[in-house]
Amino acid sequence: MRRAWGSVGGAFIVGSAIALAACAPDPSDANTGSEVYQASCASCHGANGGGGAGPALDDGVLVAKYTDAEMAGVIRNGALTMAAVPGLTDEQIAAVMAFLRAEF
Ligand code: HEC
Repeated sequence: MRRAWGSVGGAFIVGSAIALAACAPDPSDANTGSEVYQASCASCHGANGGGGAGPALDDGVLVAKYTDAEMAGVIRNGALTMAAVPGLTDEQIAAVMAFLRAEF
């Protein structure tokens, strides 16, 4: 009887940890370009692209300046004073670039 309760409790704790991890605002959970932008870019470029610590992107000038391959390099490796944005997958980078080109 004791052992049975022990294993039920263990399963509950593991289940809770997975549920908590799923709720954490982790950039790696961002799927759409908009989510990636808000999680990884908005802190510097503004929630609506109006700029902040980084330049405004919403006038489309900086977005139009680069091909996708070049902009992926900006995101992965940084550019001039912009630090590299770590931890994004190729899919997330493609999604955020499509978002930038569609919105800005
Ligand atoms: C820690 C702050 C910060 C974050 C986070 C950030 N940027 Fe930047 N970004 C900058 C700064 C500062 C510049 C200006 C770089 C320069 O020209 O010196 C910049 C420049 C750029 C440029 C133009 C590069 C150029 O020619 O000047 C693009 C495009 C860009 N960022 C896209 C992004 C995208 C997309 C993300 C999210 C994946 C992102 N940035 C996240 C700070 C940031």
